Amino acid sequence: MGHSPSTSFVIELDDTALADLYLISCGAYFPLVGFMNQSDYDAVLKSMHLKDGSVWSIPVVLPVLSEEANSIPIGSYVKLMQGDVEYGYMILQEFFVPDKAFEASSVYLTEDRAHPGVKKLFDRKEVYAAGPVWMSTRPASPFPYASFTPNEAREQFKQNGWKTIVGFQTRNPIHRAHEYIQKCAMETVDGLFLHPLVGETKSDDVPAAIRMESYDALLSRYYPPTRVLLGTFPASMRYAGPKEAVHHALVRRNYGCTHFIVGRDHAGVGDFYGTYDAQKIFASFTDNELGITPMFFDHSFYCKACGQMASIKTCPHEENDRMTLSGTKVREMLRQGIRPPGEFTRPEVADVLIQGMRENEGK
Ligand code: ADX
Repeated sequence: MGHSPSTSFVIELDDTALADLYLISCGAYFPLVGFMNQSDYDAVLKSMHLKDGSVWSIPVVLPVLSEEANSIPIGSYVKLMQGDVEYGYMILQEFFVPDKAFEASSVYLTEDRAHPGVKKLFDRKEVYAAGPVWMSTRPASPFPYASFTPNEAREQFKQNGWKTIVGFQTRNPIHRAHEYIQKCAMETVDGLFLHPLVGETKSDDVPAAIRMESYDALLSRYYPPTRVLLGTFPASMRYAGPKEAVHHALVRRNYGCTHFIVGRDHAGVGDFYGTYDAQKIFASFTDNELGITPMFFDHSFYCKACGQMASIKTCPHEENDRMTLSGTKVREMLRQGIRPPGEFTRPEVADVLIQGMRENEGK
């Protein structure tokens, strides 16, 4: 070929694009081998499929400035950099100008910029660059002990002798409702892959480092170590509700999971999605075409009359027997150094969160 990877063309990656470069390169986004071209992008927005027929629900794109698009010839090798670090390169196949309003309404089901995913979509650069990518430097993980590629995760599952593995996505500390649905699933499968998202989240979500500490505190006391693997998912959160639930399931399939938990308002934010929209969307696909089986859970809570965690499927009691606390209320309590009730958050988890918030505010 006439070109060499020692090119002078450079595209600067934002944090989401850097995370996506890694996730494409390590196989987490299989069958993607690069940032999407317009025909795949259009197909994803219109039909939740790639041109080759695979299910795919979220665009994976590389935004650049129009000046960059005008200065890099098609067919070039382009260095993919953030700051001074070269993370990989791309063979530039295409530039295209997205219709961001259409992307917002297709992916996020709203064009309202009060939605953090929509805001970010509009804040990113205006032209998308497409082409296959290669990674040359793996971004450093702040949690190396829990950083597995899909192949590494599969290898761990094999070593543990697990045939059926349920994946769990979260961007939050694990409260009792999360623990309950995980453990319900664990009763029927061989292992739990606890796979918290540790990439970019909105500023009022609990920072990943504090969450990781809280997961360790919980796992070491309340889960059998031979039945759980904690791994990090370094993607940016999109808050795209139903479409992101499908995306989260496909990615966990690629990590080797056979099952994936979808509870209430999965990947939702504010009141943008209905409580079970992220479950209903799975009716559009067969398990076969997804390659993973979703496991749905109703809104779960502690019921004082039952004396245990339950959901509407298992609890016959009245609303006022049930303990429910809003996320806002819980955050407020933790900020004041108050442990939420043990039926809501384990004390060991609450203590890590209280301490973490104190340190964060002291910064
Ligand atoms: S998410 O944005 O990563 O989906 P979160 O960390 O709160 O947010 O949720 C992780 C998973 O637990 C999701 O599948 C979500 O639907 C589920 N979930 C959270 N809270 C509850 C609850 N009270 N009852 C049932 N499922 C829940």
